[in-house]
Amino acid sequence: MSHQDGHQQDPGRAPLRAAIVGTGAVAHLHAQAVEADPRIELVAVSNRSEARRTEFADRYGVPGRYATHTELLAAERLDLVILCTPPDLHRQQTLDAYAAGVHVLCEKPPALSLAELDDMQQAADAAGLAFAIVFQQRTGTAAAHVKHLLDSGALGRPLLAQCQTLWLRGDDYYAVDWRGTWDGEGGGTTLGHGIHQMDLLAHLLGDWAEVDARLWRVARDIEMEDVSTAVVRFANGVVAQAVSSVLSPREASVVRIDCELATVEVEHLYGHAGPNWRITPARGVAEDVAAGWAFPAEDEPSGHEPLVRAVVDALWAGEPMPDLVTHARRPLELVTAIYASATYGKPVTPSDLDGDERFRTSLQATITDIRP
Ligand SMILES: NC(=O)c1ccc[n+]([C@@H]2O[C@H](COP(=O)([O-])OP(=O)(O)OC[C@H]3O[C@@H](n4cnc5c(N)ncnc54)[C@H](O)[C@@H]3O)[C@@H](O)[C@H]2O)c1
Repeated sequence: MSHQDGHQQDPGRAPLRAAIVGTGAVAHLHAQAVEADPRIELVAVSNRSEARRTEFADRYGVPGRYATHTELLAAERLDLVILCTPPDLHRQQTLDAYAAGVHVLCEKPPALSLAELDDMQQAADAAGLAFAIVFQQRTGTAAAHVKHLLDSGALGRPLLAQCQTLWLRGDDYYAVDWRGTWDGEGGGTTLGHGIHQMDLLAHLLGDWAEVDARLWRVARDIEMEDVSTAVVRFANGVVAQAVSSVLSPREASVVRIDCELATVEVEHLYGHAGPNWRITPARGVAEDVAAGWAFPAEDEPSGHEPLVRAVVDALWAGEPMPDLVTHARRPLELVTAIYASATYGKPVTPSDLDGDERFRTSLQATITDIRP
């Protein structure tokens, strides 16, 4: 059975009406995910560039085309707006969607600061509308299986973790106007890229307790860091090393957790499926015990499609959004703690962060520039 077969649209029930704001690179993944689910249809898009909105709307057969999200929200009757704009626009566009009575699904990073994110969540709560965010590394059957194994204690106590985002981004990447600047991107590779793996790590391990980090500019001509290195202690007693880089020719995204009874790890680039995951039992673990950890035979990779489906499931059933698309604050807290710790030159705890107005409102941090 395909994943869609279980969600045949009720005869007589109209599909949910969705719009995409910002029809750039990532918007295609959302349009394809919406196309794959008969319970939702894409009725409008907006882009300040006429050429980009027309090309995108023609490609996906979308009737409504607007220059701005305010025109779109005023003209269309919508259930869901999907924000695929640069991150400095997410806060205002989210607040405007709630003022128009529309649920929001927002691309990562959901906001440029914890203060912005709190505004967005408060507006969602006040309006009684959903605030769903995209951290698609949480999705996929293998990640769900590993989360279940960890939560149930099947692998014993988790002890040590590695979290690597080793990517390569050159001058062409930073040529886009909003990239490479604190104002447009809000942060460097830690916020823009590392957040994905740190989100998966925290999705698997839970709340963090302390972060000790450094930010480096090793090679790129940008305002922010091109490498960050951090040690994260989790509330459950796991110690993790996290590195984010845009300088790595053999690119890899790695999360590895050493537990008492096994090492569980995933290595991929932008998305993972069952074969990317591996569980290695500790010496002495009985074969039948390890056999009980086997990944499900039916495997759906991580990605935007299962994530959008989880949002539609909840909207369709009138239920709250699931964990898969909530808890936006935890990854942004972790990232904020990295910027704060690197700037202050000492470890940072969640309560340090709560009382820190500077880093609650901005990630602009001290970077150690070691370029020759
Ligand atoms: N989840 C992922 O894997 C993933 C991957 C890539 C990007 N992203 C995130 O998605 C967001 C967009 O990134 P991208 O790579 O698609 O960027 P992009 O620059 O390719 O696209 C952004 C689009 O928004 C348009 N735009 C700008 N201002 C607008 C406005 N006021 N109203 C409407 N449209 C406007 C631009 O013209 C552009 O076409 C960022 O937050 C990024 O971090 C997520």
